[in-house]
Amino acid sequence: MPVITTIDDLKRLHERRVPRMFYDYAESGSWTEQTFRENTTDFEQIRLRQRVAVDMSGRSTKTQMIGQDVAMPVALAPVGLTGMQHADGEIKAARAAEAFGVPFTLSTMSINSIEDVAEATTKPFWFQLYTMRDEDYVARLIQRAKDAKCSALVITLDLQILGQRHKDLKNGLSAPPKLTAKTLANLATKWSWGIGMMGAKRRSFGNIVGHVHGVDDTANLGAWTAEQFDPTLDWGKIAKLKEQWGGKVILKGILDADDARMALKVGADAIIVSNHGGRQFDGAPAAISVLPAIARAVGDRAKILFDSGVRGGLDIARALALGADFVLLGRAFMYG
Ligand code: GLV
Repeated sequence: MPVITTIDDLKRLHERRVPRMFYDYAESGSWTEQTFRENTTDFEQIRLRQRVAVDMSGRSTKTQMIGQDVAMPVALAPVGLTGMQHADGEIKAARAAEAFGVPFTLSTMSINSIEDVAEATTKPFWFQLYTMRDEDYVARLIQRAKDAKCSALVITLDLQILGQRHKDLKNGLSAPPKLTAKTLANLATKWSWGIGMMGAKRRSFGNIVGHVHGVDDTANLGAWTAEQFDPTLDWGKIAKLKEQWGGKVILKGILDADDARMALKVGADAIIVSNHGGRQFDGAPAAISVLPAIARAVGDRAKILFDSGVRGGLDIARALALGADFVLLGRAFMYG
């Protein structure tokens, strides 16, 4: 095992070990990828003020988030297809988060199911919900998250229509991968990934397959998700989902102070300032560049979480300095 000191080291290992289509899925933004790139380059422009001669001996990263004690102001973000990056990826990530004392968020589009993760962990995790046209399915999903004792519902607001990601289109992304000549040639060079996958609990979307009438294999799943993401989502529906859930609600994908105020109006316990890692609306500002204005609009009326572009502790410090209470890591944990 090489000595790993930075997230970039993990990224290089990830690139070497994981089939191209899944590496590309993670390492891409939508359209021209401008927003994706600026999420990190805007961070690099931020300089922190250095002060000296302050007693540093009692410092601690411990804090609280929506009533939970946490070891540091960090949570693992919902990342779709984590279980395709590594066999049982969501189970492994959830266990690691538990060991470190930080919340784990399970994506609707995960490979391991809500029940798999609940069975493999002892502390509550957060569940991220994509709203779908099929309201019965959404109600069942919410009930499954309740039964699993998830401690927060993270509702994603910025994916009513999937962003156009050119690499995924070119690669024919699917889970599991379709075995074309191109994917087979690439898979042949990823032995340890393949061996892991042979023993994996699941190789397709665990929250969906077997839980939706007519979706029992992967062949029709892509079409189903393209049809199912709900383009009619609005604040009224969000308020209804909050009522249905009855617990803590975190609204993800806020990039504008007016939307932050709307989120407060519908009773969000916390918001996530995020542009979905640059994967949705290309041309939107880097998330870090809009954080100060949103922090001013929200004040202390709700907790402010932040994601999109965080690649290490220095970026976490920058986000906290600009008004975040808490930071989510997506790609940075997923490389690992
Ligand atoms: C899903 O959340 C994605 O960004 O691919």
